[in-house]
Amino acid sequence: MSLQSIKYTRGSLEILDQLLLPVQSKYLPVRGVEDGWKVINKMQVRGAPAIAIVGCLSLAVEIHPEEFDSKKSLRQELEGKLNYLVSARPTAVNMKMAADELLSLANDLTKDDNVDVAAMKQRFLNATEAMLKKDIADNRAIGAHGAKAILQLVAAAAGAPMAGPVRVLTHCNTGSLATAGYGTALGVVRQLSELGKLEHVYCTETRPYNQGARLTAYELVHEKFPATLVLDSMVAALLRAKNVAAVVVGADRVAANGDTANKIGTYQIAVVAKHHGVPFFVAAPLTSIDLHIPSGDHIIIEERPDREMTHVGEHRIAAPGINCWNPAFDVTPASLITGIITERGVFQPAQLKEAITKLLET
Ligand code: MRU
Repeated sequence: MSLQSIKYTRGSLEILDQLLLPVQSKYLPVRGVEDGWKVINKMQVRGAPAIAIVGCLSLAVEIHPEEFDSKKSLRQELEGKLNYLVSARPTAVNMKMAADELLSLANDLTKDDNVDVAAMKQRFLNATEAMLKKDIADNRAIGAHGAKAILQLVAAAAGAPMAGPVRVLTHCNTGSLATAGYGTALGVVRQLSELGKLEHVYCTETRPYNQGARLTAYELVHEKFPATLVLDSMVAALLRAKNVAAVVVGADRVAANGDTANKIGTYQIAVVAKHHGVPFFVAAPLTSIDLHIPSGDHIIIEERPDREMTHVGEHRIAAPGINCWNPAFDVTPASLITGIITERGVFQPAQLKEAITKLLET
Protein backbone atom coordinates (compact mmCIF):
# COMPACT_ATOMS: atom_id res chain seq x y z
CA MET A 1 0.00 0.00 0.00
CA SER A 2 1.30 3.47 -0.82
CA LEU A 3 1.87 6.10 1.84
CA GLN A 4 -1.05 8.23 2.97
CA SER A 5 -0.34 11.89 3.62
CA ILE A 6 -3.95 12.89 4.35
CA LYS A 7 -6.45 11.01 6.53
CA TYR A 8 -9.95 12.39 6.39
CA THR A 9 -13.39 11.38 7.52
CA ARG A 10 -16.20 13.91 7.86
CA GLY A 11 -15.35 16.14 10.84
CA SER A 12 -11.80 14.81 11.26
CA LEU A 13 -8.57 15.58 9.39
CA GLU A 14 -5.04 14.40 10.06
CA ILE A 15 -1.85 14.91 8.05
CA LEU A 16 1.40 13.00 8.10
CA ASP A 17 3.93 15.49 9.49
CA GLN A 18 6.43 15.70 6.63
CA LEU A 19 8.93 17.65 8.72
CA LEU A 20 9.51 14.51 10.78
CA LEU A 21 9.91 12.08 7.87
CA PRO A 22 11.71 9.80 7.31
CA VAL A 23 12.76 9.44 10.96
CA GLN A 24 9.30 9.51 12.47
CA SER A 25 5.86 8.75 11.03
CA LYS A 26 3.43 10.88 13.00
CA TYR A 27 -0.04 12.15 12.10
CA LEU A 28 -1.06 15.63 13.26
CA PRO A 29 -4.67 16.63 13.83
CA VAL A 30 -5.87 19.61 11.76
CA ARG A 31 -8.89 20.99 13.63
CA GLY A 32 -9.70 23.96 11.44
CA VAL A 33 -8.47 26.70 9.15
CA GLU A 34 -5.89 28.11 11.57
CA ASP A 35 -4.25 24.68 11.88
CA GLY A 36 -4.59 24.20 8.11
CA TRP A 37 -2.82 27.49 7.39
CA LYS A 38 -0.01 26.63 9.82
CA VAL A 39 0.70 23.09 8.57
CA ILE A 40 0.83 24.39 4.99
CA ASN A 41 2.99 27.41 5.82
CA LYS A 42 5.43 25.36 7.94
CA MET A 43 5.51 22.71 5.17
CA GLN A 44 4.35 19.92 7.46
CA VAL A 45 2.22 19.18 4.42
CA ARG A 46 3.51 20.32 1.03
CA GLY A 47 3.20 19.67 -2.69
CA ALA A 48 0.78 21.76 -4.72
CA PRO A 49 -2.18 19.32 -4.82
CA ALA A 50 -1.84 18.33 -1.15
CA ILE A 51 -1.72 21.99 -0.11
CA ALA A 52 -5.07 22.63 -1.84
CA ILE A 53 -6.73 19.50 -0.49
CA VAL A 54 -5.59 20.01 3.10
CA GLY A 55 -6.48 23.71 2.96
CA CYS A 56 -10.02 23.00 1.76
CA LEU A 57 -10.55 20.05 4.11
CA SER A 58 -9.37 22.17 7.06
CA LEU A 59 -12.26 24.48 6.24
CA ALA A 60 -14.61 21.51 5.92
CA VAL A 61 -13.75 20.24 9.42
CA GLU A 62 -14.12 23.75 10.82
CA ILE A 63 -17.61 24.37 9.46
CA HIS A 64 -18.84 20.80 9.95
CA PRO A 65 -20.08 21.31 13.56
CA GLU A 66 -21.08 24.97 13.04
CA GLU A 67 -24.59 26.25 12.48
CA PHE A 68 -25.17 29.29 10.31
CA ASP A 69 -28.06 31.78 10.55
CA SER A 70 -28.19 32.38 6.84
CA LYS A 71 -26.67 31.40 3.53
CA LYS A 72 -25.15 34.87 3.36
CA SER A 73 -23.26 34.41 6.62
CA LEU A 74 -22.03 30.94 5.51
CA ARG A 75 -20.89 32.38 2.20
CA GLN A 76 -19.05 35.22 3.93
CA GLU A 77 -17.29 32.81 6.27
CA LEU A 78 -16.24 30.60 3.34
CA GLU A 79 -14.90 33.52 1.34
CA GLY A 80 -12.85 34.97 4.20
CA LYS A 81 -11.36 31.64 5.17
CA LEU A 82 -10.61 30.47 1.63
CA ASN A 83 -8.76 33.73 0.94
CA TYR A 84 -6.80 33.28 4.14
CA LEU A 85 -5.80 29.73 3.15
CA VAL A 86 -4.61 30.95 -0.26
CA SER A 87 -2.14 33.23 1.54
CA ALA A 88 -0.33 30.34 3.29
CA ARG A 89 1.97 29.68 0.31
CA PRO A 90 1.85 31.94 -2.77
CA THR A 91 3.48 30.04 -5.66
CA ALA A 92 1.37 26.88 -6.04
CA VAL A 93 -1.86 27.86 -7.80
CA ASN A 94 -3.90 24.79 -6.80
CA MET A 95 -5.24 26.28 -3.54
CA LYS A 96 -6.32 29.44 -5.35
CA MET A 97 -8.02 27.39 -8.11
CA ALA A 98 -9.84 25.32 -5.49
CA ALA A 99 -10.86 28.46 -3.58
CA ASP A 100 -12.26 30.06 -6.75
CA GLU A 101 -14.20 26.92 -7.62
CA LEU A 102 -15.66 26.51 -4.12
CA LEU A 103 -16.54 30.17 -3.92
CA SER A 104 -18.32 30.04 -7.24
CA LEU A 105 -20.30 27.06 -5.92
CA ALA A 106 -21.13 29.04 -2.74
CA ASN A 107 -22.28 31.99 -4.87
CA ASP A 108 -24.54 29.78 -6.99
CA LEU A 109 -26.04 28.10 -3.91
CA THR A 110 -26.60 31.44 -2.20
CA LYS A 111 -28.72 32.54 -5.15
CA ASP A 112 -30.62 29.24 -5.45
CA ASP A 113 -33.96 29.55 -3.60
CA ASN A 114 -34.41 25.76 -3.57
CA VAL A 115 -31.39 25.35 -1.34
CA ASP A 116 -31.53 26.18 2.39
CA VAL A 117 -28.51 26.92 4.58
CA ALA A 118 -28.17 23.32 5.84
CA ALA A 119 -28.25 21.96 2.29
CA MET A 120 -25.75 24.60 1.20
CA LYS A 121 -23.33 23.46 3.90
CA GLN A 122 -23.80 19.81 2.85
CA ARG A 123 -23.12 20.63 -0.78
CA PHE A 124 -19.98 22.53 0.20
CA LEU A 125 -18.74 19.59 2.30
CA ASN A 126 -19.48 17.14 -0.53
CA ALA A 127 -17.60 19.29 -3.06
CA THR A 128 -14.59 19.57 -0.77
CA GLU A 129 -14.52 15.86 -0.05
CA ALA A 130 -14.76 15.03 -3.76
CA MET A 131 -11.33 16.61 -4.24
CA LEU A 132 -9.63 13.65 -2.57
CA LYS A 133 -11.03 11.05 -4.99
CA LYS A 134 -10.63 13.28 -8.02
CA ASP A 135 -6.97 13.94 -7.26
CA ILE A 136 -6.14 10.22 -7.15
CA ALA A 137 -8.05 9.53 -10.38
CA ASP A 138 -6.31 12.48 -12.10
CA ASN A 139 -2.91 11.26 -10.95
CA ARG A 140 -3.54 7.79 -12.34
CA ALA A 141 -4.46 9.34 -15.68
CA ILE A 142 -1.34 11.55 -15.58
CA GLY A 143 0.73 8.43 -14.87
CA ALA A 144 -0.75 6.55 -17.82
CA HIS A 145 -0.37 9.45 -20.30
CA GLY A 146 3.16 10.22 -19.09
CA ALA A 147 4.46 6.66 -19.22
CA LYS A 148 3.05 6.23 -22.72
CA ALA A 149 4.61 9.49 -23.95
CA ILE A 150 8.05 8.61 -22.56
CA LEU A 151 7.98 5.07 -23.96
CA GLN A 152 6.83 6.33 -27.38
CA LEU A 153 9.67 8.86 -27.53
CA VAL A 154 12.24 6.27 -26.52
CA ALA A 155 10.93 3.77 -29.08
CA ALA A 156 10.90 6.43 -31.82
CA ALA A 157 14.46 7.52 -31.01
CA ALA A 158 15.63 3.89 -31.21
CA GLY A 159 13.57 3.23 -34.36
CA ALA A 160 12.07 0.28 -32.48
CA PRO A 161 8.40 -0.76 -32.29
CA MET A 162 8.50 -0.76 -28.48
CA ALA A 163 10.72 0.73 -25.80
CA GLY A 164 12.52 -1.45 -23.29
CA PRO A 165 12.63 -0.52 -19.59
CA VAL A 166 13.81 3.07 -19.10
CA ARG A 167 15.79 5.11 -16.63
CA VAL A 168 14.23 8.36 -15.48
CA LEU A 169 15.19 11.25 -13.23
CA THR A 170 12.82 13.18 -10.98
CA HIS A 171 13.22 16.20 -8.70
CA CYS A 172 11.62 17.16 -5.38
CA ASN A 173 8.65 15.09 -4.16
CA THR A 174 5.55 14.65 -6.27
CA GLY A 175 4.32 11.32 -4.91
CA SER A 176 1.69 10.10 -2.50
CA LEU A 177 3.01 12.55 0.07
CA ALA A 178 2.47 15.57 -2.20
CA THR A 179 -1.01 14.58 -3.34
CA ALA A 180 -4.06 12.63 -2.19
CA GLY A 181 -2.27 9.53 -3.48
CA TYR A 182 -0.35 7.99 -6.41
CA GLY A 183 1.45 11.22 -7.32
CA THR A 184 2.00 13.26 -10.48
CA ALA A 185 5.58 12.94 -11.77
CA LEU A 186 6.03 10.05 -9.36
CA GLY A 187 2.73 8.70 -10.71
CA VAL A 188 4.45 8.48 -14.11
CA VAL A 189 7.28 6.53 -12.46
CA ARG A 190 4.73 4.32 -10.70
CA GLN A 191 2.98 3.64 -14.01
CA LEU A 192 6.27 2.75 -15.72
CA SER A 193 6.87 0.28 -12.92
CA GLU A 194 3.34 -1.16 -13.23
CA LEU A 195 4.01 -1.68 -16.95
CA GLY A 196 7.31 -3.46 -16.20
CA LYS A 197 9.11 -0.60 -17.97
CA LEU A 198 11.00 1.03 -15.11
CA GLU A 199 14.64 0.11 -15.21
CA HIS A 200 15.72 2.71 -12.67
CA VAL A 201 14.62 5.99 -11.12
CA TYR A 202 17.06 8.62 -9.90
CA CYS A 203 15.86 11.23 -7.42
CA THR A 204 17.65 14.42 -6.46
CA GLU A 205 18.29 15.43 -2.87
CA THR A 206 16.43 18.75 -3.50
CA ARG A 207 18.20 21.20 -1.27
CA PRO A 208 17.44 22.98 0.98
CA TYR A 209 14.33 21.26 2.33
CA ASN A 210 15.51 17.85 1.03
CA GLN A 211 12.14 16.66 -0.27
CA GLY A 212 14.02 14.25 -2.55
CA ALA A 213 16.32 12.70 0.04
CA ARG A 214 13.75 12.63 2.83
CA LEU A 215 10.42 12.09 1.08
CA THR A 216 10.86 10.78 -2.48
CA ALA A 217 13.60 8.38 -1.39
CA TYR A 218 11.27 7.24 1.42
CA GLU A 219 8.46 6.59 -1.07
CA LEU A 220 10.76 4.81 -3.53
CA VAL A 221 12.18 2.54 -0.82
CA HIS A 222 8.64 1.91 0.47
CA GLU A 223 7.54 0.87 -3.04
CA LYS A 224 10.72 -1.18 -3.56
CA PHE A 225 11.45 0.58 -6.86
CA PRO A 226 15.00 0.31 -8.24
CA ALA A 227 16.14 3.78 -7.19
CA THR A 228 19.21 5.87 -6.51
CA LEU A 229 19.59 9.20 -4.75
CA VAL A 230 21.83 11.86 -6.28
CA LEU A 231 22.74 15.32 -5.04
CA ASP A 232 21.43 18.32 -6.97
CA SER A 233 24.97 19.10 -8.13
CA MET A 234 25.31 15.67 -9.79
CA VAL A 235 22.61 16.00 -12.44
CA ALA A 236 24.92 16.94 -15.33
CA ALA A 237 27.27 14.07 -14.51
CA LEU A 238 24.30 11.72 -14.15
CA LEU A 239 22.83 12.62 -17.55
CA ARG A 240 26.23 12.22 -19.19
CA ALA A 241 26.95 8.85 -17.58
CA LYS A 242 23.76 6.91 -16.95
CA ASN A 243 21.70 6.87 -20.13
CA VAL A 244 18.67 8.54 -18.56
CA ALA A 245 15.74 8.42 -21.02
CA ALA A 246 13.68 11.30 -19.60
CA VAL A 247 13.35 13.78 -16.78
CA VAL A 248 9.90 14.09 -15.22
CA VAL A 249 9.06 16.73 -12.62
CA GLY A 250 5.93 18.23 -11.08
CA ALA A 251 4.67 21.81 -11.15
CA ASP A 252 3.38 24.43 -8.77
CA ARG A 253 2.05 26.70 -11.48
CA VAL A 254 2.16 26.47 -15.25
CA ALA A 255 1.57 29.74 -17.12
CA ALA A 256 -0.48 29.94 -20.33
CA ASN A 257 2.67 29.78 -22.50
CA GLY A 258 3.93 26.67 -20.68
CA ASP A 259 6.55 28.36 -18.47
CA THR A 260 6.54 26.27 -15.31
CA ALA A 261 7.25 27.13 -11.69
CA ASN A 262 8.46 24.15 -9.72
CA LYS A 263 10.86 23.40 -6.88
CA ILE A 264 14.09 25.37 -6.97
CA GLY A 265 16.63 23.50 -9.06
CA THR A 266 14.14 22.40 -11.71
CA TYR A 267 15.31 25.09 -14.14
CA GLN A 268 18.94 24.03 -14.01
CA ILE A 269 17.95 20.39 -14.54
CA ALA A 270 15.98 21.44 -17.65
CA VAL A 271 19.02 23.35 -18.98
CA VAL A 272 21.23 20.33 -18.42
CA ALA A 273 18.63 17.99 -19.98
CA LYS A 274 18.51 20.17 -23.10
CA HIS A 275 22.29 20.10 -23.35
CA HIS A 276 22.26 16.30 -23.22
CA GLY A 277 19.23 15.86 -25.50
CA VAL A 278 17.18 14.27 -22.74
CA PRO A 279 13.40 14.91 -22.97
CA PHE A 280 12.11 17.02 -20.09
CA PHE A 281 8.49 16.49 -19.00
CA VAL A 282 6.32 18.39 -16.54
CA ALA A 283 3.52 16.32 -14.96
CA ALA A 284 0.68 18.34 -13.45
CA PRO A 285 -3.09 18.27 -13.06
CA LEU A 286 -5.17 20.95 -14.79
CA THR A 287 -5.53 22.57 -11.36
CA SER A 288 -1.85 23.59 -11.62
CA ILE A 289 -2.33 25.38 -14.93
CA ASP A 290 -2.96 29.09 -14.64
CA LEU A 291 -4.24 30.42 -17.94
CA HIS A 292 -4.75 33.84 -16.34
CA ILE A 293 -1.06 34.60 -16.56
CA PRO A 294 0.61 34.79 -19.98
CA SER A 295 4.09 33.74 -18.87
CA GLY A 296 6.24 32.69 -15.94
CA ASP A 297 7.29 36.33 -15.35
CA HIS A 298 3.97 36.78 -13.55
CA ILE A 299 4.50 33.98 -11.02
CA ILE A 300 5.22 35.07 -7.48
CA ILE A 301 8.14 33.07 -6.14
CA GLU A 302 7.96 32.30 -2.44
CA GLU A 303 11.13 33.10 -0.50
CA ARG A 304 11.66 31.05 2.64
CA PRO A 305 13.63 31.59 5.85
CA ASP A 306 17.47 31.54 5.74
CA ARG A 307 17.47 28.84 8.37
CA GLU A 308 16.43 26.21 5.81
CA MET A 309 19.78 26.86 4.11
CA THR A 310 22.01 27.53 7.07
CA HIS A 311 20.92 24.52 9.14
CA VAL A 312 20.28 20.84 8.67
CA GLY A 313 17.85 20.06 11.46
CA GLU A 314 19.32 21.71 14.54
CA HIS A 315 22.86 21.64 13.14
CA ARG A 316 24.28 24.83 11.63
CA ILE A 317 26.27 24.18 8.44
CA ALA A 318 26.73 27.72 7.07
CA ALA A 319 29.17 30.29 8.43
CA PRO A 320 27.38 32.58 10.90
CA GLY A 321 26.82 36.07 9.47
CA ILE A 322 26.58 35.04 5.79
CA ASN A 323 23.61 36.44 3.80
CA CYS A 324 21.26 33.94 2.18
CA TRP A 325 18.84 33.95 -0.75
CA ASN A 326 16.30 31.17 -0.49
CA PRO A 327 13.71 31.13 -3.31
CA ALA A 328 11.61 27.99 -2.91
CA PHE A 329 10.82 27.72 -6.63
CA ASP A 330 12.18 28.67 -10.03
CA VAL A 331 10.60 29.06 -13.45
CA THR A 332 11.60 26.75 -16.28
CA PRO A 333 11.04 28.44 -19.65
CA ALA A 334 8.63 26.64 -21.96
CA SER A 335 11.40 26.34 -24.58
CA LEU A 336 13.10 23.72 -22.38
CA ILE A 337 9.96 21.62 -21.86
CA THR A 338 9.22 18.66 -24.15
CA GLY A 339 5.68 18.09 -22.94
CA ILE A 340 3.24 18.92 -20.18
CA ILE A 341 1.53 15.76 -18.96
CA THR A 342 -1.99 16.32 -17.62
CA GLU A 343 -4.89 14.03 -16.77
CA ARG A 344 -6.36 14.90 -20.19
CA GLY A 345 -3.27 14.17 -22.28
CA VAL A 346 0.22 15.45 -23.05
CA PHE A 347 0.61 18.89 -24.60
CA GLN A 348 3.52 20.77 -26.07
CA PRO A 349 3.85 24.11 -24.26
CA ALA A 350 2.90 26.02 -27.42
CA GLN A 351 -0.38 24.08 -27.71
CA LEU A 352 -1.25 24.29 -24.04
CA LYS A 353 -3.49 27.35 -23.87
CA GLU A 354 -5.63 26.45 -26.85
CA ALA A 355 -5.93 22.79 -25.88
CA ILE A 356 -6.86 23.47 -22.25
CA THR A 357 -9.31 26.20 -23.20
CA LYS A 358 -11.06 23.72 -25.52
CA LEU A 359 -11.07 21.01 -22.83
CA LEU A 360 -12.58 23.36 -20.27
CA GLU A 361 -15.35 24.30 -22.70
CA THR A 362 -16.40 20.64 -23.17
O1 MRU B 1 7.91 23.40 -1.52
P1 MRU B 1 7.15 22.16 -1.87
O2 MRU B 1 7.72 20.92 -1.27
O3 MRU B 1 5.67 22.31 -1.63
O4 MRU B 1 7.36 22.04 -3.45
C1 MRU B 1 6.82 20.93 -4.10
C2 MRU B 1 7.07 20.94 -5.55
O5 MRU B 1 7.71 21.82 -6.10
C3 MRU B 1 6.37 19.89 -6.36
O6 MRU B 1 7.13 19.53 -7.47
C4 MRU B 1 5.00 20.42 -6.83
O7 MRU B 1 4.31 21.03 -5.79
C5 MRU B 1 4.17 19.33 -7.40
S1 MRU B 1 3.68 18.13 -6.18
C6 MRU B 1 2.70 17.01 -7.00
